Amino acid sequence: MIKIRPMGAADLQLGVRLTRQAGWNQTESDWLRFIDLQLEGCFVAEINGASVGTTTTCVFGPVAWVGMVLVEVNARRKGVATALVKHALSFLEKQEVKTIRLDATAAGLPVYEKLGFTLEYQLTRYEGIAPQTGVQPHVTKATMSMFAEIVAFDHRMTGTHRGNLLTRLFEESPQAVHVLCQAGQLEGFVTLRRGANAIQIGPCIATPRAGRALLSDALGRCAGQLVFIDIPRSNARALRVAEASGLRVQRYFVRMYRGDRVKDCVEAMWASSGPEKG
Ligand SMILES: CC(C)(COP(=O)(O)OP(=O)(O)OC[C@H]1O[C@@H](n2cnc3c(N)ncnc32)[C@H](O)[C@@H]1OP(=O)(O)O)[C@@H](O)C(=O)NCCC(=O)NCCS
Repeated sequence: MIKIRPMGAADLQLGVRLTRQAGWNQTESDWLRFIDLQLEGCFVAEINGASVGTTTTCVFGPVAWVGMVLVEVNARRKGVATALVKHALSFLEKQEVKTIRLDATAAGLPVYEKLGFTLEYQLTRYEGIAPQTGVQPHVTKATMSMFAEIVAFDHRMTGTHRGNLLTRLFEESPQAVHVLCQAGQLEGFVTLRRGANAIQIGPCIATPRAGRALLSDALGRCAGQLVFIDIPRSNARALRVAEASGLRVQRYFVRMYRGDRVKDCVEAMWASSGPEKG
């Protein structure tokens, strides 16, 4: 019998263990952020009292994300992921969200399709050693006073009010958030964080003229280190920056949704925040 229960701080090590087992990049601080952002919306699956699976949700007003669907290798193909996602969906239905999104791996895709998720678009994960890049004109560190503008800009471009996520990322690492402003106008922002395997660059949300400089700035800050960047496949400009920087394709994710489709501006998405929250 599969039992689903809330995930709490005592389950951080379970999250980290399943993440390592799957070879994913998230760290204990990522798990802590997921739990803090949606305290009652992260879940653990148990079989005979043993914890064997996880999932997280994150509600951004009418739009919610499901992430971190991980099942212990020995407990797979017993319906654990399906039970976890069904439980997450009923939690989100109670929050009256209109859209549920996720980024599926090839292994996860059939589970979500059966639960009514539809394919939206693909993202490419690039990986590689970041090259040296020069100083990028107009790119500076973000300040707290810019924050409301950053959140509003992100909302316009992604169709999602991610203020709680962006604030948390800024609080965790204020030095990491860089912006590009021209003529007093915010043209985009980028941040990055350390993962278990590589530095994850993103989110990078920017106008077509600012994205290249912001991504190059982030790559330059990681020069000589392994980086991951998740880029929508239809953002050709962003793909060109990754390829010109010598990064190679590691794998693909499929962004899926259930409910109302969110109108996001894919050409402004130079890097996703990662597969957990778009
Ligand atoms: C993807 C993943 C989460 C699936 O977990 P799972 O618990 O095995 O998933 P489920 O058991 O619910 O469903 C998987 C399959 O088992 C089948 N299944 C479910 N109950 C079953 C049972 N009692 N007996 C046999 N098969 C069963 C499902 O029909 C499904 O079949 P399909 O692959 O042919 O579509 C798991 O493989 C995993 O953790 N992978 C690594 C991380 C990952 O990629 N996560 C997804 C992120 S998007």
